[in-house]
This record gives sequence, structure tokens and C-alpha cells, in this order.
Amino acid sequence: MSDSKLEELEIRLLLEAVFEKYGYDFRDYAMASVRRRILSFMEIHKIEKISELIPLVLHNKKTFNLFIKRLSITVTEMFRDPFVYKFIRENVIDILRTYPFIKVWHAGCASGEEVYSLAILLKEEGLLERTQIYATDFNNIALNKAKEGIFDIKNIKKYSVNYRDAGGKDSLSSYYHSKYDSVMMNNELKKNITFANHNLITDTVFGEMHLIFCRNVMIYFNKELQGKVFDLFDKSLIPRGFLCLGSKESLKFSTIEEKYNTLGLKERVYQKLS
Ligand SMILES: C[S@@+](CC[C@H](N)C(=O)[O-])C[C@H]1O[C@@H](n2cnc3c(N)ncnc32)[C@H](O)[C@@H]1O
Repeated sequence: MSDSKLEELEIRLLLEAVFEKYGYDFRDYAMASVRRRILSFMEIHKIEKISELIPLVLHNKKTFNLFIKRLSITVTEMFRDPFVYKFIRENVIDILRTYPFIKVWHAGCASGEEVYSLAILLKEEGLLERTQIYATDFNNIALNKAKEGIFDIKNIKKYSVNYRDAGGKDSLSSYYHSKYDSVMMNNELKKNITFANHNLITDTVFGEMHLIFCRNVMIYFNKELQGKVFDLFDKSLIPRGFLCLGSKESLKFSTIEEKYNTLGLKERVYQKLS
């Protein structure tokens, strides 16, 4: 067996062990990116072999938490890709307005910047009061940050520019309070948001959604896993519901492609046909 085959075998054993013991399923993630992250974790923690990492991850909770943190990429920002929010404001909001009650799901919300961005947009369009937002992730550390809604003040300049480019109608500063080197999002934004742990691979459908955001999550999944998650979204959306993906993700060649209309190609906004 070649060295690279042996390494892949060890990675599979590690991922299988993590799944069996903790229920975190990285087994169908794209191998190249999982491998890169495992090797960088080992370098930082001065672990020489994957076979040495396995017992550490299985028996040492602290190592496990750090390992999960490294394996799941939680990079995010407010109004990321502002043109997407602008597109939603101009092309989706008026359709959502026709419903008496709106349900939105942010799947893979990380630390919540995306969720607060959409809540601000909905507020400005007068829809927040009648919207229930579900914000889910399988990483509890990120999810707790999302619940708190406290972000580093050093990013606010960039977020304010994004907000303006996204067609923001006010000033971003009217949606948070500054405290020392942080900003705390206003409670009125949080009122209709439910934060919950949810694993896209092992957990079930969120019913009757009008809009699902799942941006920059599936990029790390292999084709089979992507298919599984697209199916989950398809089951979770109402007829004529909307799906918004990340800029490197697409419904093209997916199992549900035929059932969706591409509303914004660049923005990756799709509408279910019926
Ligand atoms: C790069 S962040 C994207 C955050 C945000 N959607 C954005 O685009 O800015 C990816 C998030 O997906 C989450 N994630 C990855 N696999 C997941 C899974 N199987 N179930 C739920 N969340 C998952 C990660 O924990 C991480 O917080």
C-alpha cells in the first residue's frame, strides 16, 4: 500500500471514529479539504501521525473540541456578497410580502452574521414582524456566538460598506450598540430568531420554509452528500419557495435542478417550481 493510500485509510478510520463516538459526520466531506485541515491541526499540535491523533480525539474532550473547530470552517461576515442581498431585496421580497406569515431557514449559519443581515433587510422591508427565522448549525461554539449576537467592532467598517452596497436604507449603526471593542445586535432583531443545533447530514427536514439560505456550507461536501442535502431542502421548501446558495455553489447538475427556476444566476438564487 502506498503512503498516500495508507494516509487516506487512517483519515477514514479517524472520521469513522469521530462519527461513531460523537455523531459529527465528516465522512463524505471532500477528501482534499478534510486532509488539509487534519494535517494543519496535527502540525499546530505537534502530532506526527494520524494514528496518534485518533486516541487523542476519542479520549480527550479538549482536543476533540479544538479538532471540530478546525474541521468546520466558520468564516462569515455581515452582508457577505452584498449583491445577493440587493437581489433579494429587489426580486424576492415582494413575493414574500404576499404571504401572511413567512418562514426562513439559515442552514449552516456559523456565528450568525448572515442571519442578522437578513433580519435587518426584513425589518427595513416591514416583514420582520411576520417572519420566523430558524438559524441552525452543527457547531455549538459558533451557534452560541450567533445567539449572543456580539461581534468584533474591528469588522464593522467593512460590514457598513457591505450594508450600503446591499441597498441598506438606514445606517448599520442603528441596529447595534457598541460596547468596548464589540458591538451587540439589537434585541428587536433577535425576537423572531430561533437558534438550534442541526446537522444537515443526520437530522431531518425543517417544514414549510419560504426561503432557505445555505451559503458556503456545501462547498465542502462531496457530490453524494450535496445530493442528500439538496433533497432535504427540496422537502423543506413550500412550492414557489426560494433557495439561496453560496457563490461557488450551484443547483447545476444536481438531482433537483429540474424542479427549480434560476432566478439570479450570479446571486445563486433559485425558485422551486411547484
Ligand atoms: C463557511 S461557514 C458559512 C457561514 C454563512 N452561511 C456564510 O455564508 O457566511 C460554514 C458553516 O457550515 C457549518 N456546517 C458544516 N457542515 C455542516 C453540517 N453537516 N450541518 C450543519 N452545519 C454544517 C459549519 O459549522 C459552518 O459554521
